[in-house]
Amino acid sequence: MGEASLQPIDAPPVQLIEARATTSLDQNYQPVRTALDPAGTTEVLSTASLVLKFDRFLLPSSVSGAVGAEFVCVSGDLAPVETYADCVNPLALAPTYNPVQREVILRQIEGMPGLELGARYALTVLRPADEAAPAGVRAFDGAPLGSNTRIEFTVASALPPQAMPERPPSGDFFCQRDLECVAGTADCQGDAPLDPTCVGCVRGAAYYLSTCVGCHIDGSAAAGLNLNLGGPMFNRIEPLLETVIGHAAHQTQMGEKAHVAETSPERFGRAMPLIDPGNPGNSYLLYKILIGQIALDPSLPADEAEKLRQETERLQAAFVVGMPMPPPPSKPLFRFHPQAPDDRSVTPYVDGIDILSAWILDGAEPRDCSAPVTPP
Ligand code: HEC
Repeated sequence: MGEASLQPIDAPPVQLIEARATTSLDQNYQPVRTALDPAGTTEVLSTASLVLKFDRFLLPSSVSGAVGAEFVCVSGDLAPVETYADCVNPLALAPTYNPVQREVILRQIEGMPGLELGARYALTVLRPADEAAPAGVRAFDGAPLGSNTRIEFTVASALPPQAMPERPPSGDFFCQRDLECVAGTADCQGDAPLDPTCVGCVRGAAYYLSTCVGCHIDGSAAAGLNLNLGGPMFNRIEPLLETVIGHAAHQTQMGEKAHVAETSPERFGRAMPLIDPGNPGNSYLLYKILIGQIALDPSLPADEAEKLRQETERLQAAFVVGMPMPPPPSKPLFRFHPQAPDDRSVTPYVDGIDILSAWILDGAEPRDCSAPVTPP
């Protein structure tokens, strides 16, 4: 019995909206990714990562590394690829899935052969080989990729001297400081600073989760979810450990093992953890936000915005219960996408990923932000 037997009839096939790859570096030597031209004319850097953007929310296990990225073939052999078995000398790639963007980032793996200077490659994004195949792109409800998509590209014959291998982002995403704030705050500076660790400038995951505290506070926390992280000091990690990280969302609990958070449930969404360290695509807290206002990207053209609205409706019909978070009509305190240039309410982005997802991907470790960082 495969996923497909659970697929609702109204689940449309998944489409690849765009594939991007690193084509140059910006002034801070960070990767600049541009869309691969379907005509095959794009020249990418040999250090390149690839980003695949889809129209639907994906089944994380169908695009995970657990099966060795077998939903995609990047090969210097340009023969057609129907299934992963046809992929000759596949480039080794480590995937990460970000549900906020509905994107999979594929990075080359240290110590494995990478893209060769000047060579030509074909990228084929693969649908599942059959109904039961675990690998191959699927939506969260089991619907497969509509058809395999193939794009050729060439690797530039030289690499800018500053280019570095692209690695998944890591850092202090929980307590990250806004550097402009640090530079402009008198309390952070001087011989005897009033705010020696500049905790007032925290703009990491702790800050954005704390904006929910109005309803999710201590003994009276809505749905038992306590997001009182001790703001403005951000020095309480117990509530996250006791009620959020690795805990199954109350709203997803069904069946006999309902109290145990599942990382690979039979049916996606069942007993989903609120936050699953390393796996934002399996973190219910993100989906509660994704069905609401603050996840809307105002730059989307009307028809795409409407398609996304229908897709979030499918999420709600399938497993996201109750109100979107934060519930309207309360004024949104932060957003995933800027509403206007210079929008200060938007979460910072780390290599194209919002900081909440980046923190979850990096292991979702909370810490006391008022304490100095101890060197590893
Ligand atoms: C205005 C009050 C209010 C605010 C603000 C609010 N919530 Fe909620 N939240 C609730 C209520 C009430 C419920 C339970 C009913 C429901 O889910 O519709 C809930 C439920 C949840 C759940 C489901 C918990 C479970 O175990 O199933 C999550 C996750 C959640 N909230 C996350 C957030 C996040 C993240 C924010 C901030 C972006 C937030 N909430 C802001 C009132 C609020």
